[in-house]
Amino acid sequence: MTAIDHYAVMGNPIAHSKSPLIHSLFAQQTKQSLDYTAILVELGQFNEAVSQFRDSGGKGLNVTVPFKRDAWRLVDERSPCATLAGAVNTIQIRADGNLYGDNTDGVGMVRDIRDNLGIAITGKRLLVLGAGGAVRGVLGPLLEENPAELMIANRTPERALELADAFEEHGRVEGCRFDDIDGVRFDIVINGTSASLKGEVPPLPEGILSRNAFCYDMMYAAEPTAFMRWADDEGCEQIADGLGMLVEQAAESFLLWRGVRPDTAPVIQTVRKVLLGQ
Ligand code: ATR
Repeated sequence: MTAIDHYAVMGNPIAHSKSPLIHSLFAQQTKQSLDYTAILVELGQFNEAVSQFRDSGGKGLNVTVPFKRDAWRLVDERSPCATLAGAVNTIQIRADGNLYGDNTDGVGMVRDIRDNLGIAITGKRLLVLGAGGAVRGVLGPLLEENPAELMIANRTPERALELADAFEEHGRVEGCRFDDIDGVRFDIVINGTSASLKGEVPPLPEGILSRNAFCYDMMYAAEPTAFMRWADDEGCEQIADGLGMLVEQAAESFLLWRGVRPDTAPVIQTVRKVLLGQ
């Protein structure tokens, strides 16, 4: 009998997580013997939940809202990407029980934009909306692509300035408020605010998209998000949501755990169908 390795995603809420589906599709495709469950963790109980999972022989974890920062604190060792992101979304439980923390969100997003959607980031003028944990998690890999410029605009400008400061060694990055981008044009706009969750769009000036601009929402839903509808109203013809990012960040975790990179294209297709209820 083949032994099965155990993996899980921890979060709160977790019921609607697509990660178990994504990882089971990866496992099937790559003929890896593993199971992957979703674990609802009570607030304040993250460390205990991880210990319990480790003690039961678990091999790896994904971590989602609101525990990525707790995971960053908890792990024994961090990848450079996780160190910079200030958050951990992937834990590898080593044979000696030590926890290795990585953050695959940024690499996942870059792979989706660059490889799946065919949009080069290098040399482009980039605008990132929001300055919370989600944005911090992706700035390192975005700057590694060498955009011409990366502007972070946020409702609370101090947070954008702080983030820009924290990443200044990694590229040309500035922070500002939404009003400050009036009259400036960008080639790529990435929405990392949680406004989409409430069906809202940050108050963006008109005409900030260059010709052939690309707009990307890190969120996804069955319907186009409010930000995607805004981009459409602005005449943008290249618009995408973050479903590909979700699958790509999972693929990076899978690669860390299993040493195999799954083919993401068919998995993105299947998850999209499930999302649309088809
Ligand atoms: P996360 O970890 O998801 O990034 P967060 O740290 O709470 O969560 O950050 C949420 C981000 O969305 C912030 O940049 C927030 O702006 P503030 O820093 O000014 O709070 C932004 N945000 C949330 N709702 C918004 C809205 N309706 N309009 C504009 N920005 C919004």
